[in-house]
Amino acid sequence: MEYFKLSNGFLVPKIGMGTNTFGKKDNDFHGEITGDTKELLSSYQNGYRLIDTAIMYRNEAVIGKSIKESKIGRESIIVTSKISARSPFIDSEETIRNYLDQSIEHIGEYVDIYLIHHPSADMETNLNLWRVLESYYDKGLFKVIGVSNFDEEQLKYLMDHARIKPMMNQIESNPNRFNHELIKYSLMHHCLPVAWGPLDPVPNKDVLTNIGSKYHKTWAQVLLRYQIQRGVAVIPKSHNAIRQKENIDIFDFNLTDEDIRKIEG
Ligand SMILES: NC(=O)c1ccc[n+]([C@@H]2O[C@H](COP(=O)([O-])OP(=O)(O)OC[C@H]3O[C@@H](n4cnc5c(N)ncnc54)[C@H](OP(=O)(O)O)[C@@H]3O)[C@@H](O)[C@H]2O)c1
Repeated sequence: MEYFKLSNGFLVPKIGMGTNTFGKKDNDFHGEITGDTKELLSSYQNGYRLIDTAIMYRNEAVIGKSIKESKIGRESIIVTSKISARSPFIDSEETIRNYLDQSIEHIGEYVDIYLIHHPSADMETNLNLWRVLESYYDKGLFKVIGVSNFDEEQLKYLMDHARIKPMMNQIESNPNRFNHELIKYSLMHHCLPVAWGPLDPVPNKDVLTNIGSKYHKTWAQVLLRYQIQRGVAVIPKSHNAIRQKENIDIFDFNLTDEDIRKIEG
């Protein structure tokens, strides 16, 4: 595995596993929680050590259960969770703390990376929630704190007013919406961009397939390689063990400048 180093020295795997439909009936985001850990256990077997969840996915306890079942050890798996800066999660400071404590209890002992899932339109609301995250960081209950879906203005406000600057910004990035400017801005401020939905939806797969044929790689591997090569971590999700293995096999080739021009085009 290769890693990106965050501003506080924490090492994050360049690729992790998305889980927003894991442990749920019919692999449906809104489906009933089944507690099934099959996809998580195959992720660990395939070498994934970064797992992305959130309060809103309702499956934090499934992640915690899978870590115990895997016997790999809590310290060897890096878990990201998130709280939205929206009601009901932020209705009072006590409510926020209850949600954060529950995340810790579900995942086990601490949460490696904790993000504000969705910004509020009100900058002060974001800052108030951020201050609670900072206090958990101070206590070592979170090892990294950051944001998700923040635009430049929202990120700048936190950078200017927070005691601890956000270390990560998880945002959508795929060929329909690469988010180049926001990625550039995040990188410039040492805030690691992480691409959610990196494979979905993908038009013009042929361009990527053609590039991949030179390296014996698939369109998905080309797209994931593109992101990590430009300094962006990725968290593709797959329920399928073969595709999980395929997606993580992206560390043995390099895209050329010409390939990158075609991908961005
Ligand atoms: N912060 C946020 O607001 C936010 C928003 C959305 C998502 N996320 C996180 O980001 C993760 C990833 O995003 P996502 O799940 O929306 O989309 P994604 O990972 O880009 O795409 C998932 C889809 O791609 C398919 N797939 C995976 N690998 C493939 C391959 N090698 N070839 C062909 N198809 C492949 C999967 O099908 P199979 O399962 O059949 O392989 C699945 O249908 C989520 O699970 C979640 O953890 C965060």
